[in-house]
Amino acid sequence: MVSFTNLFPPVLLALLFALATSATQWPATSHPATHRTHYVGADRSLKLEAFHPKSTFEGFGVGGVDPHPRYRRYFLSTLDAGAAAVSFLASKLSVSEDSVHVRTSAQGQAAHHVFLVQKIKGVPVANAVANVAFNENGKVSSYSSSFVKHSAAADINPSVSIDDAITTAERTLAGTHDGHPPKLEFVVKPSGFAALTRVIQIHNKTAGTWYEAFVDAHDNKVISVTDFVAKASYLVIPFSAEDVNTKGFSNTVDPQNLNASPNGWHQEFTNTTNTTDGNNVIAYTGSGLETTAVETSPVLNFNYVTDFTQDPIIGTNPQAAITNAFFVVNSYHDFAYVYGFTEATFNFQSNNFDKSGEEYDRIAVSVQDTEGINGADFAVLPDGQISIMRLFLFVNFFPRLDSALQNEIIIHECQHGASNRMTGGGTARCFQTLEAAAVSEGYSDAMADALSQGNNIHDYVFGADVGTNSTGLRMYPYSISSGVNPLAYSSLNGMTDSHAMGEVWANTLHCVYAALVAAFGWTSDPTQVGGNVIFFHLLFDALLLQPCNPTFIQTRDAWIQADTNRYNGSHVCLLWEEFVNKGLGVKAANYIDDGSLPPECIPQ
Ligand SMILES: *[C@@H]1O[C@H](CO)[C@@H](O)[C@H](O)[C@H]1NC(C)=O
Ligand SMILES: *[C@@H]1O[C@H](CO)[C@@H](O)[C@H](O)[C@H]1NC(C)=O
Ligand SMILES: *[C@@H]1O[C@H](CO)[C@@H](O)[C@H](O)[C@H]1NC(C)=O
Ligand SMILES: *[C@@H]1O[C@H](CO)[C@@H](O)[C@H](O)[C@H]1NC(C)=O
Ligand SMILES: *[C@@H]1O[C@H](CO)[C@@H](O)[C@H](O)[C@H]1NC(C)=O
Repeated sequence: MVSFTNLFPPVLLALLFALATSATQWPATSHPATHRTHYVGADRSLKLEAFHPKSTFEGFGVGGVDPHPRYRRYFLSTLDAGAAAVSFLASKLSVSEDSVHVRTSAQGQAAHHVFLVQKIKGVPVANAVANVAFNENGKVSSYSSSFVKHSAAADINPSVSIDDAITTAERTLAGTHDGHPPKLEFVVKPSGFAALTRVIQIHNKTAGTWYEAFVDAHDNKVISVTDFVAKASYLVIPFSAEDVNTKGFSNTVDPQNLNASPNGWHQEFTNTTNTTDGNNVIAYTGSGLETTAVETSPVLNFNYVTDFTQDPIIGTNPQAAITNAFFVVNSYHDFAYVYGFTEATFNFQSNNFDKSGEEYDRIAVSVQDTEGINGADFAVLPDGQISIMRLFLFVNFFPRLDSALQNEIIIHECQHGASNRMTGGGTARCFQTLEAAAVSEGYSDAMADALSQGNNIHDYVFGADVGTNSTGLRMYPYSISSGVNPLAYSSLNGMTDSHAMGEVWANTLHCVYAALVAAFGWTSDPTQVGGNVIFFHLLFDALLLQPCNPTFIQTRDAWIQADTNRYNGSHVCLLWEEFVNKGLGVKAANYIDDGSLPPECIPQ
């Protein structure tokens, strides 16, 4: 028997809540749907524009369409989905099949997904990717693509050595190569020229950065980056004794879900532990990946008491914090697993139990991490690499507050992990444009919000415990009332911060959640019918469908298609009603609100 003392009841974690806004400001001149300006280097003074070609998303309704005349006769069980996806995409985009390459595929709960990449002269193009989703009849239900018509391409034989490229990447990004083997990929520039690059991961623990550098293999300059870190927040919060968390503890016994975690939470391969060290999560105090203390309990009785009158590092407070972080991240693993974030769809586990996906990539949770303050961050690396969540102390309180006891912060970060792994097929590269980063922030707040809601939908203030005013760490509470939260699609116009922009998507999803629960009720059992169950299914299904670097419009369309795939479109008009209320009607574009419903949803 495993027992945890923690702040929350089991099953759907009922949460308290908090997270943070980023101090980073993006120049208003950037194109949010295709570009991202990164300030890199030790003092962040070097400006780098990352370019992501415009993507398309198209859904084909309930029946789907034939992938290709060649594949008309098959059901999914007998279809070579990879070959069919290549034929479909090549014909759809009028490109040769040689230029379309299957990168990976995944059986989701409501569709089969093939993830593809454009190739030039046999070399993959990092920012030109696609996905094709098949229904059980072997028909294409949707696809997305950011493939490009390039003008010219560099010679595929690099003239810069790996060592020189590593040196350039380390200098430019002020960090060190993490040892992950460099690759060769093309990067299409805004001009259409395909530059050959060496792809090198660069980490700096102190600065909290973890990049993938694309170093031009002919002129030895960093021309693009992937930023793997969902940013920490650095808020200045005045001392306020009233905000100290005084919520009560409850004791949770054997919370693990054995379908999601067959060997429980305390075994990694054949190693059984008596510590906060298992197949999904290792939680410890230390810094970065340097484990100085996992929590030990010989009989798995992790019943440490937090003394909120004392500093987080005093007495048994660290043990309680490690225990809570371990509990919440494992609980999220098991919860998300039920809704389709599994080994096959690129989740975080050491042992995948022969169920496909890359192994050795559990989450390392660094509690009371000493490299940062006032928030948390999560370096989400590609499938197969351990990803590090760092939970910092909020230092402007007395005593200080521990983000490891703020479940909404942990859930927000966990959702970044799921979003980043599921969208695009495990590359962790697909929320790099400003607009896509906003979508990801929105999903993370929306998950924290939704998991805090029961049957009675209430306004939700993100960061109530650690924020400075009645709106917590966000501009507005999430609310079905547009008087309380006036944000709409057009609010994005002129915004330059991904967290603020994310509030638009999070509030839209708050309203979708509320409408689904009003119509279908709430249940704690994910196998039963309930508005919350429908909501979580659509959310995880849409993550797999939406394009790499999705816009708000494409994310909306992925939800519509997700409902079509799983529920035969039963909730499509309910979804449209909520989207239209936020300006995301069928004709919405370029951050201009639109209030039109599709014809089938207009009441007669
Ligand atoms: C890592 O970042 C720190 C702080 O920003 C900086 O002082 C240090 O030089 C960086 N390390 C490398 C190897 O560049
Ligand atoms: C089991 O634990 C030991 C000691 O920590 C470690 O060296 C070994 O790699 C682990 N084995 C597996 C399969 O994880
Ligand atoms: C865990 O604790 C039990 C009970 O004290 C002990 O028998 C067992 O050897 C311990 N396991 C490890 C891996 O330390
Ligand atoms: C509350 O704080 C948030 C985040 O710091 C800020 O955006 C908002 O404007 C503040 N609201 C009020 C009413 O002061
Ligand atoms: C699915 O929806 C279509 C209309 O969009 C309807 O014709 C069909 O009967 C539905 N199928 C099932 C199984 O409910």
